[in-house]
Amino acid sequence: MSEFISDLSAIRERARQSIQDGAVTGAYKADREKVVEVLNEALATELVCVLRYKRHYYMAKGINSDAVKAEFLEHAGEEQEHADWIAERIAQLGGDPNFSPVGLADRSHSEYAPGTDLRSMITEDLIAERIAIETYSEIIRWLGDDDPTSRKLMIDILKVEEEHADDMANLLSRVG
Ligand SMILES: [Fe+2]
Ligand SMILES: [Fe+2]
Repeated sequence: MSEFISDLSAIRERARQSIQDGAVTGAYKADREKVVEVLNEALATELVCVLRYKRHYYMAKGINSDAVKAEFLEHAGEEQEHADWIAERIAQLGGDPNFSPVGLADRSHSEYAPGTDLRSMITEDLIAERIAIETYSEIIRWLGDDDPTSRKLMIDILKVEEEHADDMANLLSRVG
């Protein structure tokens, strides 16, 4: 047995105990309740982003709107995917993914800014993405080595938010 495995018989014994905890074992070093709370805020952020991009998709009008609409719809789909990943992780941690519309905007990091024309919609989306990039980066640093699975999840999501911000910045320069 490789020496980095500390005590295999103790690990085997612990695995048999508390099987109702599912994926959560003694190796889990984070504050589970706090992680669930933080992930629920990220979930709210994603849900608000879905709603904002959907609204922008249906409201975008004008000669430059086709490419922009397609981008809004794609982003809405990806934010929904992020929401699903986060909810799945919360449930895995024994938590309760909060989908309640009550307080959704308050739990979210970014705001629901409707935007009036193409330019203001793209601007608001870019701002929301930049907020998510900052808050998710903080969550990733905070998780550290204590919950590598949630950390990896947030890193995967952060990568897409950075692409989203880049997309919105490019669109903004094109709509003039
Ligand atoms: Fe997202
Ligand atoms: Fe995004």
